[in-house]
Amino acid sequence: MANHPLPISSNDPPLLAVLKGERRDPPPVWLMRQAGRYLPEYRALRAEKGGFLELVYDSDSAAEITIQPLRRFGMDGAILFSDILIVPHAMGQGLTFGPGEGPQLTPPLYDGNCSTLIAKPEYLAKIYETVAKVRAAIDPKVTMLGFAGSPWTVATYMVAGHGSKDQAETRRLAYKDPQAFQALIDRIIDVTVEYLSGQIQAGAQAIQLFDSWAGTLSPAQFERWVIAPNAAITGKLMVLHPDVPIIGFPKGVGAKLVAYAAETGVDAVGLDETIDPDWAAANLPADMPVQGNLDPLALIAGGEALGQAVTRIRRALNNRPHIFNLGHGILQDTPIAHVEYLFDLLRKPL
Ligand code: CP3
Repeated sequence: MANHPLPISSNDPPLLAVLKGERRDPPPVWLMRQAGRYLPEYRALRAEKGGFLELVYDSDSAAEITIQPLRRFGMDGAILFSDILIVPHAMGQGLTFGPGEGPQLTPPLYDGNCSTLIAKPEYLAKIYETVAKVRAAIDPKVTMLGFAGSPWTVATYMVAGHGSKDQAETRRLAYKDPQAFQALIDRIIDVTVEYLSGQIQAGAQAIQLFDSWAGTLSPAQFERWVIAPNAAITGKLMVLHPDVPIIGFPKGVGAKLVAYAAETGVDAVGLDETIDPDWAAANLPADMPVQGNLDPLALIAGGEALGQAVTRIRRALNNRPHIFNLGHGILQDTPIAHVEYLFDLLRKPL
């Protein structure tokens, strides 16, 4: 059963209805990173405004970018154009996206101590403006999705000051000084709840928690730093906004997805492309909505490989509430014609 009963309304757009537990064929669809560099209209606006953060904090640009992929492909969901690192920025870390080097956060919090940072809540307010502008502009049949990073994933960037393949710096700190690390996680939880609540008040109808680096933790550390903080967020949001579904997307966690689905209180789970959809169908609660999980590389391949991959996912998840999506964000070199072909395939019943 979904973790908390969500009131169903006949006015719910298809994606929202599925998140509340209804089954649809064909399934509703959106794509992670559906706005971005594979679209020429995104690249043009980015060149004009000068950089990624300039786009995020200009709510007219961010709203326009959120809507760009909907115009081309008619997705069922509009995902707010922003980034998970806006939370550290609002907590007072410096944030830059240098060309070709990924995000840099200053100062890095090697000891986990964020108490000397000076908060900048005005950054969050900009994002709420974007949500409101998108919600006012899009069709009522499209579901507005807000998001945040989960505390563990956000903390890995805050501690190291940049992204890393194995999150060793942060895993080390979590073992060496769990109290200091817990204090950082608790602070991220509070800001994230405030941030998601602001997005919901501005018009977000469902929320996704991205936990991109949940996969590198040992089981006990996974319980403490992934499950517990996500459960804290869903618990608080459920009280504030009981009718807003929450999708949890812990990437790379394999069989730990079962505990994640049972213990975090999320209403739906996202599957990355390494999860066998038949395994998910057999091991996740029968009426829990699942989202996913086309390999972004199958979308780049196109043709028969794409068709087969799509059919396999739809067959496996056809008997439950399913939202079609990728297993991770769309890649920059994805041909637009292949995305169009994917939407042709998905408009046909199985
Ligand atoms: O899904 C969407 O379309 C919504 C927008 C969105 C972005 N980032 C825009 C973005 C979302 C949901 C994210 C989430 C995000 N950001 C995650 C979690 C999901 C994942 O991908 O694992 C993470 C880890 C980040 C942090 C981040 N932001 C990194 C590591 C980078 C640099 C990587 C790169 O491709 O250069 C970003 C930048 C970023 N966020 C871009 C976009 C469209 C690229 C910006 C650009 O150069 O134009």
